[in-house]
Amino acid sequence: MMSEKILYSFTAIFDSPDEVSHATEKVVEQGYTKFDVHSPYPLHGMDDAMKLPPSKLGYVALVFGLSGMVAALLTMWWISAVDYPIVIGGKPLFSFPAYIPIVFEITVLSASIATVLAMLFVFFKLPNNSHPLHGTEYMKKVSSDKYGISIQAEDPKFDEASVRKLFESLQAREIYSIYWDNEELTHKHKILEPKFLTFLFVVAIISSGTAYFTLNKLMYMIPFNWMMDQPKQSAQQKSLVFSDGFGMRQPVAGTVARGYMPYEFKGKPDVAGEKLINPIPISIESLKLGQVKFDIYCSPCHGYHAEGNSRLRGQFPNPPSLHSEKVRNWSDGRIFAVLTEGQNIMPSYATQLSVDERWAVINYLRVLQRALDAKETDLQ
Ligand code: HEC
Repeated sequence: MMSEKILYSFTAIFDSPDEVSHATEKVVEQGYTKFDVHSPYPLHGMDDAMKLPPSKLGYVALVFGLSGMVAALLTMWWISAVDYPIVIGGKPLFSFPAYIPIVFEITVLSASIATVLAMLFVFFKLPNNSHPLHGTEYMKKVSSDKYGISIQAEDPKFDEASVRKLFESLQAREIYSIYWDNEELTHKHKILEPKFLTFLFVVAIISSGTAYFTLNKLMYMIPFNWMMDQPKQSAQQKSLVFSDGFGMRQPVAGTVARGYMPYEFKGKPDVAGEKLINPIPISIESLKLGQVKFDIYCSPCHGYHAEGNSRLRGQFPNPPSLHSEKVRNWSDGRIFAVLTEGQNIMPSYATQLSVDERWAVINYLRVLQRALDAKETDLQ
C-alpha cells in the first residue's frame, strides 16, 4: 500500500509570461478552481486572469483590530470610571481624548499580531511546512526561468485525461504529474518530530543557562565584578574600629557641615530682630528674586500684595495684613525669624527658601509696604 502513490496535481511548464497568462484564462474558462500559477517574479494581470478573490487576511485584521479597540476602551472605562474612579484636573471619569493613544496602539497591536499569526497558522497551515511541490523538478524550473500551472487532483472537475488534453492544446512545454510524498503523508508535522523538538529544547537550555551564568555568576567573579568587594565600611555594617561597634558615626560635637550656617536665635525672635542684619542690599536682582519667591511661597496665603487676601478660600485661616504698623516697624531680622521658624500656624520656610532667598523676599516685602505707604519724599 505504501508504495502506491497518490496524485497531487498535474502541472504544465510554459516559456513566457504571455503563454502562461493565456493558459490561465483557458483553465479558468474550463471551470477549474483548485489550481495555482507559479512564476519566478510577480506577473501583472495574473490576479485578474486567475479571477482571484481579494485576500481574506484583511478581514482578520479588521475583526481583531476592532476587538482590540473595544477591549482597550472597556478596560480603561472599567478601571477609571468603575473600579477606581479618580477625578483628575476636573475631567470626566470617562475621558475619551486621553484614551485615544492607547486605543490606537492596542488596535494596531492586536490587528498586526493577529494578522501574522493567522497568516502563519491558518493560511500557511504551520506547523505543517511540507508541500508536494517542494523539491520537484517543476518547482525548480518555475523558480528560475519558467512559468507553470498546477491543477490539483482534488478539483471537482479534475480528470487526468482531460487535464492532459487541455495542457497539450495550450502547447505546454512539459507536463509533470506530481505525487504526494508518502513519507510526508504519514508524518504530517515534520516540525513536531521528537528530534527537532529535542534540538529546540537543548538550544533553549544552553542559551538560558549561559545567560544565567553570565549575569548571575560570572559578573560577580574577580575581575569582572569591578571592585565590588572593597575593604570599606558599609553604612549598616558592624565596625571593628570603634568600641561601640557602630559603623555609622555621629558628627563630632561642635562641628558644622560645610556651607551650612546654624540659626542661633531658635525660639528667640526678638533677639533675632535686634541682632540680625539684612546682608543683601536692595538691588534689581534681589527684588526680582524676592518677587518670584514671594509670589510662589507667600502669595497663596498673604495675597500678591501682602494684604492678607488669601487665595485659599478658607482652606487655611487668613493671615493678617503685612502692611500693619507692627510689621512695618519690625526690623528685617525680626521678619527673618518668622520666615525661618514660622509663627503660630504659619509654617517655617527654611527648607524651601535658602538664607539669601529669605532676605530677598524681605527686601521685596519692604517694597510692597512702601508702595502702600509712600512718604512725601518718595514723590520728589
Ligand atoms: C500657609 C499660609 C501662609 C504662607 C504660605 C505664608 N504665611 Fe505668613 N502667615 C500666615 C499666617 C496664618 C500668619 C499669622 C500667624 C499668627 O497667627 O501669628 C502669618 C504671619 C506672617 C507674618 C507675621 C505677621 C504678624 O502680623 O504677626 C509675616 C511677617 C509673614 N507671615 C510673612 C510671610 C512670608 C514672607 C511668607 C513667604 C515666605 C509667608 N508669610 C508665607 C500664613 C502664611
